[in-house]
This record gives sequence, structure tokens and C-alpha cells, in this order.
Amino acid sequence: MSTLAIYGGEPTIKPGEIKNWPPVDKTDEDLILAALHEPNQARGKYTALLEKEFNAFAKTKYAYFTNCGGSALHMCVAGCGIGAGDQVITTAYTWPSSASCILHNMAVPVFVDILPDTFLMDPSKIEAAITPRTKAILCVHLHGLCCDMDPIREIAKKYNLKIIEDACQAHNALYKGQPAGTLGDCAGFSFNQNKCMTSGEGGIFVTNDEEIYRKGLTLTGFGDMQPTKDTDEYPAYAFGYKFANNEITAAYALAQLRKFPWYYKQLIDNARTLHAELTAANLKGLKLPVEPENCTHNWYNYNIRVDFDALGMADKTTAEKSRFRHAVCKALQAEGLPCGVWQHCILPQMTIFRAKNAYGKGYPWTVPGADAKTNYDVENFPNADKYCYSHIALVMVLRAPNDTVMASRVAQAIKKVFSNIDKIDPDKIMK
Ligand SMILES: Cc1ncc(COP(=O)(O)O)c(C=O)c1O
Repeated sequence: MSTLAIYGGEPTIKPGEIKNWPPVDKTDEDLILAALHEPNQARGKYTALLEKEFNAFAKTKYAYFTNCGGSALHMCVAGCGIGAGDQVITTAYTWPSSASCILHNMAVPVFVDILPDTFLMDPSKIEAAITPRTKAILCVHLHGLCCDMDPIREIAKKYNLKIIEDACQAHNALYKGQPAGTLGDCAGFSFNQNKCMTSGEGGIFVTNDEEIYRKGLTLTGFGDMQPTKDTDEYPAYAFGYKFANNEITAAYALAQLRKFPWYYKQLIDNARTLHAELTAANLKGLKLPVEPENCTHNWYNYNIRVDFDALGMADKTTAEKSRFRHAVCKALQAEGLPCGVWQHCILPQMTIFRAKNAYGKGYPWTVPGADAKTNYDVENFPNADKYCYSHIALVMVLRAPNDTVMASRVAQAIKKVFSNIDKIDPDKIMK
């Protein structure tokens, strides 16, 4: 193999060869322009259309188009009736919004470790984390792979807990053929630009449960969404925010949603091409993502891992391993491959959770009884910690309009770096 680009060789992928995400065309332009000329640019006709078509897409009954995925998740928490001093069990390895949405309603996140292969919440760890304060399990279908829902549902049923799905990365990810968003009581999706379906920013709260929908809505309309209101008064019936999005963004989201079948097929074809080529190459030190039999990955992120055991580096410190992984990442980037570290540390290590202080004066952890069993020490989450310092994430490069030819180029770049893995020298690369 030729010299690595990080040491002066030719990059595998040249600048400009990777096409931008999302593809924008006349479908987007026509809908956005039409929305722009409507008299109503707040919630209106395009928002209603989007919510209707998203319900059909996600197989849900109720939907509310929000300004982001985080607010959609906050609506889930409020919709499930979770409040001050309650506890919600979630995963230690995720995006901070999966847990901050719990704090936003004055409840406390209780973390559990992940499974070593799928990097998703380990269902066998949930029961030990349950206390009389526990009200829900918030499962995160991370990187576009659904959690193992059967055991999670069994536990939820046994302890009468709600299930909230963080489906922000999981558009049409399937569990036993059923889409994310319908696997629990309610769900939040994100339409942020990184996502498989985007409107730049945005999100959507979905549920099949009318009561959860109504309670969720109360939160977003300044606390003013009365189910039957026959006056023009605007009293705040409850404590609320404003999470609504607008018509122009709704029109963009609608255009992108209508193109989703193309995007989805292309992403899956690309990920399968990459996966087949890397599997066939059988490279030392490279661990590939898995797709359990009962799941269909949407390949939001294709995450590879450095296998430190295979490289004889098992005894190195976490800091040394992390530095080596960063050097590998830089070598891949030098080959022209956009990739990065998706999370630098697990949630329990992040300042807000370590400090146990969200609202000042230690709230919500200082609500009497709220802090039971919340041990955030990293030692409790060894799989999450290991995943964190060994992964490298490929996000946009496999998206449409990039095709399987590009997926093969990505494979080539990874093969070049990993077949030269003995030459990766963090002291030279991480100057
Ligand atoms: C797993 C997960 N949950 C929640 C969110 C929050 O979504 P948003 O950025 O749209 O608020 C994200 C966004 O990246 C995410 O990846």
C-alpha cells in the first residue's frame, strides 16, 4: 500500500469528491417558496401536512413539529407525567439531550451501562437501577440501531413504567420490522442537519397515546393548550415553553421527507457496500459495527472501533488509547475521509451530571428523595467508557447523493490506514 497521506502520500479521496448532504432540488425550492408566500408563516398548512405525512411515515397517530429534537424529547417527558424528583433510566453513552430532557422537567437521570457490541442500553442492567421514584425508561436508538425492546418492554410492564424513545437518530430504524417511534409510549425525532432526514434544524414529537399527546402539548403552548377552548383568552394553565417551528421550515422538512425513500435506500446500499468490503479485508485492529438479526440499522452513523486487544495495546492507559484513536482518526481524515470522535466522554462524566446541579442549589437532585441510587462514577459504566475512547464515527459520507462508488472509496481509505496501523505514531501525528 502507498504512503499514508498523513505522512505525505496521496489522499484516497480528493477534495470536492464527496457530495454535500442533504441533496436540495426543485422539490425543496417549490415547497419553500410556496410557504413563503402564504399569509400564515407560523404553524399552519405546511406544518399540518408535515405532521400528517410524518405520522404516516412513522406509523403514529399524533405528531407535533418542534424547533429541535431536544424539545420533542422534553415534550415526551412532560407527556408521560414525569415531574420534580422523579427518576428516568437512560443510557450512559448518548448525546447529552437524551438526559437533559429529563432534567428540563426537574426529574433525575439514572444511567445504565451499554452492551459491548451494539453500544446500546443493556437491558440486564435496568432492574437494578429501578427505585420507587422511577417513572420511565428512556431508550436511545443510537446511531440508527434500535434498542433490544422485548426485555425493556417486559421490565416496563412489570414495574409500570413508561417507555420514551429517543429516536433522534433513528428515522425508519426497525426492530422486528416495527419502526422506531412506535416501540414505546412516545418518541422524539430530530431534523437537525446531521440527521437522515433534515430541515436544517427541527424535530417532531410523536405518540399513539392521546393523553400523552395532550400533556406534551401543554408544555409547548406557553402552558396554554386547553383541549377545548371557546374564548380568545391566553391564560397560562400550566408552566410552559414555546417549541413550535414555522411554516418555511415545515415546507423544507416536507420536501425532505418525501425524498426519504431514496435517501434511505442509498444509505443502506452504501453502508452494506462499505461493510462487505471491510469484512472481506479482515483488517487487524479494526472492529466493525454490528446489526443484530432482529434489527434493521438505518446507518445514521457507521462507527468503526480500534481493537486495542488485537493490536497488543490492552495494557495501555485510557489516555494512551484515546490518543492513539485520535491519531488513527487524523490519518483517516488526511486520506480525505470526513470522520471524527462522536463523544469524547460518557454522560456521567460530563460536568452537569458530575456536579449534580442543573438549576442551581443542586436541583433537581436536591428534591427530597430524588437522588436515590444515582451513582455516576465512570467505573459503573465500563462498556460505555471503552466504546467512547475506541470509536471513530463516519456520519455524512455515506448519505445520498453519494453512492456505492463513494462507499468503496471510503472502504479503500480505511483499508489503507488499517493495513498501515503499525506505522501510526501518535507522537508524530498529534503534535
Ligand atoms: C441521540 C440524540 N438525542 C437527541 C438529540 C437532540 O436533537 P436536536 O439537536 O435536534 O435537539 C440528538 C442530536 O444530535 C441526538 O443525537
